[in-house]
Amino acid sequence: MKIYFVTTNDGKYEEVKKMLPEHDIIRKNMTYPEIQADGLEEVAKFGMDFLSKKLDGNIMLEDSGLFVQSLNGFPGVYSAYVFKSIGNDGILKLMEGVEDRRAYFKSVIAFYDGEVRFFEGICKGVISETKKGGNGFGYDPIFIPEGETKTFGEMEREEKNEYSHRGKAILKLKKFLESF
Ligand code: IMP
Repeated sequence: MKIYFVTTNDGKYEEVKKMLPEHDIIRKNMTYPEIQADGLEEVAKFGMDFLSKKLDGNIMLEDSGLFVQSLNGFPGVYSAYVFKSIGNDGILKLMEGVEDRRAYFKSVIAFYDGEVRFFEGICKGVISETKKGGNGFGYDPIFIPEGETKTFGEMEREEKNEYSHRGKAILKLKKFLESF
């Protein structure tokens, strides 16, 4: 199936393309409004309502965030802004001396084929003590998924996809697309 994936993020595009080789994933490098809301679903829905009026065909977008337990879920829906402003160093500084380092990534995919459908994935883990690894993007160098000792930044794309929030959400979308 031909699907427009709207993202300005190279890393997200590569991960999605890798997991959906049976589909024709066409990248649209365009922006859409990302509203301030309490949840990723609302952000994704608003974005898709905007895009479905602009593009013809099947469309997908993905919204994600990092939720740190001891910071009451911060940066959460503000993950992109926080990454651009204080970055991984800023998060590590906020976590200095903090014992409870639990965190999770959440991904919400909105897929449009005449109506909007949502697929979500969560990946639990911990915030590392230091930045490690040069792979991936965003918070990858400071996030260690549950059951691992390496950060996402130290993993190859395939290995990250096995654990990741986005990998889980894509798998749900993949199953849904099989029913066509
Ligand atoms: P958005 O979904 O594009 O708004 O991204 C939210 C923020 O979380 C951005 O700063 C991303 O870099 C970061 N982020 C999203 N997914 C991941 C991931 O898989 N690894 C690391 N950082 C991520």
